[in-house]
Amino acid sequence: MQPLRLIKLIYARLARRLAASLPTGLFARSLIIIIAPVILLQGIVVAVFLERHWAQATDTLSASIVAGVVSVVETYDRADNKLDARRILIAQSDALLFQNVAFSADASLPPAPVPARFDLVHSTLQNLLETRLGYPFALDTVSAEESIKLKVLVDGETLSIIISRARASVGNWHIFLVWMLISSLILIGIAVLFLRNQIRPILTLANAAEDFGKGREAEYKPRGAREVRRAGLAFMEMKRRIARSVDQRTTMLNGVSHDLRTVLTRFKLSLAFVEQMPETADLKRDVDEMNQMLDAYLAFAKGDIGERAERVDLGPILAALKSDAERAGHQTEVVITGDPIAIVRPAAFKRLLSNLVSNAARYGDRIEIDAEHKARWLTVTVDDDGPGIAPDKRETAFRPFMRLDEARTTEEGRSGLGLAIARDIARSHGGEITLGDSPLGGLRATVRVPG
Ligand SMILES: Nc1ncnc2c1ncn2[C@@H]1O[C@H](COP(=O)(O)OP(=O)(O)OP(=O)(O)O)[C@@H](O)[C@H]1O
Ligand SMILES: [Mg+2]
Repeated sequence: MQPLRLIKLIYARLARRLAASLPTGLFARSLIIIIAPVILLQGIVVAVFLERHWAQATDTLSASIVAGVVSVVETYDRADNKLDARRILIAQSDALLFQNVAFSADASLPPAPVPARFDLVHSTLQNLLETRLGYPFALDTVSAEESIKLKVLVDGETLSIIISRARASVGNWHIFLVWMLISSLILIGIAVLFLRNQIRPILTLANAAEDFGKGREAEYKPRGAREVRRAGLAFMEMKRRIARSVDQRTTMLNGVSHDLRTVLTRFKLSLAFVEQMPETADLKRDVDEMNQMLDAYLAFAKGDIGERAERVDLGPILAALKSDAERAGHQTEVVITGDPIAIVRPAAFKRLLSNLVSNAARYGDRIEIDAEHKARWLTVTVDDDGPGIAPDKRETAFRPFMRLDEARTTEEGRSGLGLAIARDIARSHGGEITLGDSPLGGLRATVRVPG
């Protein structure tokens, strides 16, 4: 039990490490899924090939060379007539597959140059000569490109043998590697092309969904593999269903408000004919208020869903809000940082801001509006110096028809929908709206939308 748990733990940890170090994109991940086995396979093939085939071939070739060398050296050493032996051996050098055999009288070996890098031919030959040749020798595989020079001390003389390098190694093994590299590059190239085409429809779907979330209508047609097309069709169906339900909501509310307004109009007309008294004035005001509330409900139900996002200059919108608030006697400040052009649904966004500013105007004297457009996000904060909202009441304030200060207020025409509408609009842009404490002492409403 204990070791099993340990293995599980190690596996989980490794898997987490691996997941963290893997790229997050589907394209890169799929490429790795294809490339990793190719590299692994080729690595194994190369390792096995070099280890088994190449090294073995070199061994065999070296052994035959060394056998030749040993036979020449021993024949010479054993010969009684050295002069004859020399002649015969020199004449036989071709038959022994040596390039050249020569004798010289000086009996000293030059220091053998050491090969600069790892050289399989050199090390194999050196080892074999050390074990099989019982004479002092110097092996030089460095100084000539095409041949190997070997000097052996025999009987007070130096025997020089020159061997063609081609005899000692499997010369064209690198062609194998080149072909392997070329074929895997072709494979990876094909994989890249195919993967691109597979991933593009997924990206298009993601973009379409994102745009829909931000309230931007974009052309979309399902494409690509069957599963991706299915997801695309499901997305389109979802979009249609949402649009239908919004339509139904609007139609119903339109009907209700139309019917109620007809009754209210009749009411108003009747009132005009009645003798004017203080009570009738009150009744008239009530009728007007009901009319206004109906308008507000209707706007909430519509939610400006039909409107398209476009490039909007925030400057004039904020300037209009400021002048409205100033006309109502509020000290108002507007600051815009970054690009004043944002991509939003103009009427809806205006309504969102004016809901926030009208709240600030209702509760505070000073208003500060601050818009910041940075890194494709637009953040607008509306501050006031009013009483603010207690943290635990902030979520409640967003509820439709919710007025926190019902007992205190006697104002007319208020529906308690302002913040609910504002949040609806912010969310339909793919953003959010939050309430907090303002440095001015009152409420700070922060809107953050992509744009
Ligand atoms: N700036 C603010 N300072 C203090 N309280 C606020 C502020 N803004 C909103 N509130 C509180 O949140 C409640 C909900 O606000 P909301 O804008 O949704 O409705 P409303 O202003 O009462 O009505 P409407 O906006 O439809 O005229 C308000 O009734 C009020 O109590
Ligand atoms: Mg309000």
